[in-house]
Amino acid sequence: MTIPISPVPGEPRRQPQQAAQSAQPAQPAQPQAQSLYDMIGEDTFRKIVHEFYLRVPNDPVLGPMYPADDLDGAEDRLRWFLVQYWGGPQTFNEQRGHPRLRMRHVHFAVTPEAREHWLTIMADALGTVGDTELPGPAREAVWDHMVRVADMLINRP
Ligand code: HEM
Repeated sequence: MTIPISPVPGEPRRQPQQAAQSAQPAQPAQPQAQSLYDMIGEDTFRKIVHEFYLRVPNDPVLGPMYPADDLDGAEDRLRWFLVQYWGGPQTFNEQRGHPRLRMRHVHFAVTPEAREHWLTIMADALGTVGDTELPGPAREAVWDHMVRVADMLINRP
């Protein structure tokens, strides 16, 4: 199985207009690379995010930050975002508009401590998913992305 380095594999290379009009036989289409979403599937993202949100209310730093009366909605939003980022349906954009995650987090105190808590419970959530559902390279790619985003979201000392 080939894991793409980028979340959404590039469009298959188009033939230049000239080549398409020439007498040469058309080249067979290159098979489109699978996205990571195609490989691991919606249910794996559903499980990871669900396990994450099961842990949020009990976390002393994160619990008070998240909307207690809308955790199901929050769960949907994070799942839509991850699914979209990794090449699945564009539901996040349809429901919420452009992600603009830094802007969406300015009202929350994303301190280095909060980042640590977020990544710790996410690591626990990822730990509940087996290697068959989330093979090593996909696990690393998903985790690396989360760490990068968490680092980028820190907005308070
Ligand atoms: C670094 C620590 C982080 C903290 C403290 C934090 C905190 C929060 C809070 C309190 C919310 C509001 C919940 C809601 O109503 O949707 C939220 C939303 C969200 N967070 Fe984070 N977050 C963190 C990291 C991340 C990371 C790493 C990602 C992505 C990989 C992420 C993606 C999102 C998304 C997509 C939403 C929903 C935005 C929306 O649609 O309004 N967050 N976050």
